[in-house]
Amino acid sequence: MPTIPMGVPALLWIALLLFSPDGMSAVIWKSKVFLNPPWREIFRGDTVSLTCGTNSSSEDESPVWIHNGTRLAESNPRLDIVNADRQNSGEYQCRIKGYAVSEPVYLNVTSDWLLLQASAEVMLEGESLFLRCHSWRNLNVFKVIYYKDNTSLKYWYENHNISITNVTEEDSGIYYCEGRVQKLPRTSNKLRITVKKEYIYTQSKYFWLQFLIPLLVVILFAVDTALLISTQKQFTLLLKMKRTRKRNRFTDPQPKPDPPGN
Ligand SMILES: *[C@@H]1O[C@H](CO)[C@@H](O)[C@H](O)[C@H]1NC(C)=O
Ligand SMILES: *[C@@H]1O[C@H](CO)[C@@H](O)[C@H](O)[C@H]1NC(C)=O
Ligand SMILES: *[C@@H]1O[C@H](CO)[C@@H](O)[C@H](O)[C@H]1NC(C)=O
Ligand SMILES: *[C@@H]1O[C@H](CO)[C@@H](O)[C@H](O)[C@H]1NC(C)=O
Ligand SMILES: *[C@@H]1O[C@H](CO)[C@@H](O)[C@H](O)[C@H]1NC(C)=O
Ligand SMILES: *[C@@H]1O[C@H](CO)[C@@H](O)[C@H](O)[C@H]1NC(C)=O
Repeated sequence: MPTIPMGVPALLWIALLLFSPDGMSAVIWKSKVFLNPPWREIFRGDTVSLTCGTNSSSEDESPVWIHNGTRLAESNPRLDIVNADRQNSGEYQCRIKGYAVSEPVYLNVTSDWLLLQASAEVMLEGESLFLRCHSWRNLNVFKVIYYKDNTSLKYWYENHNISITNVTEEDSGIYYCEGRVQKLPRTSNKLRITVKKEYIYTQSKYFWLQFLIPLLVVILFAVDTALLISTQKQFTLLLKMKRTRKRNRFTDPQPKPDPPGN
């Protein structure tokens, strides 16, 4: 009898509540590594400060700092990298007591003539992007051209930074800059900038979930009811068939292939 399928909606409810992405993100709050200045790509000799925070930040926490997976001795809320060295490259993470460990931030310490620096490489639509064509030891750069997907964006005789407010998906692409340093033409590293529509995407995902769960429950109840009714019908039908067969046994030796329709 349909007592087992009746239990399925309740189990499904519990499973969806426990494993839904909404439930998870609400429970686990992460620490976060912030860079100041925001550049992830820096030159040897540059200076950068890492701070650890959460969205309900109180600055007096003493976080755990992790570099390339190894816990550092420092526990200051601010980790200063002065006169950066290649050794300072790699993955940085932090953890504030009571919060999950942060996503890794990758610092890349290099040496070259020009370095394209971006305030962020993965961002959401509506945020602002700040680009800098940084020269080795801040030497003067002239005839600076910024490129996006091999097309020139801006030209200046003297160096300038670029800022794009309210970015859209069309601003995604590969950026680099060119310029003359000590009279010689130089080209920077290439940076891939990705602008996502994630906010709207997650909103609509949750929006869907809100309807999906009750919908699934309704469907399962409907299936249950249908099962219950059909089982009862089949049962009565079977009983009827048995009775008719018993009666027909003596009059009609061949049983009919199909029961009479209802
Ligand atoms: C922190 O983030 C979580 C999840 O992103 C959010 O639910 C919560 O409201 C935030 N808290 C504060 C104080 O902003
Ligand atoms: C961390 O890893 C990066 C490469 O992933 C390396 O360049 C750097 O030297 C490493 N630093 C330490 C201290 O392990
Ligand atoms: C830019 O130019 C390089 C070299 O000519 C080429 O390999 C690359 O595919 C081009 N990128 C785009 C996005 O057009
Ligand atoms: C570009 O921005 C950097 C960092 O904010 C600043 O130090 C520099 O002076 C700016 N350069 C120009 C040419 O405005
Ligand atoms: C950002 O761009 C979107 C789409 O182009 C537009 O609807 C919105 O008003 C803009 N916001 C600001 C602050 O400029
Ligand atoms: C670090 O910078 C160098 C030189 O610009 C580049 O070739 C390399 O791909 C970068 N590494 C990462 C992990 O961004």
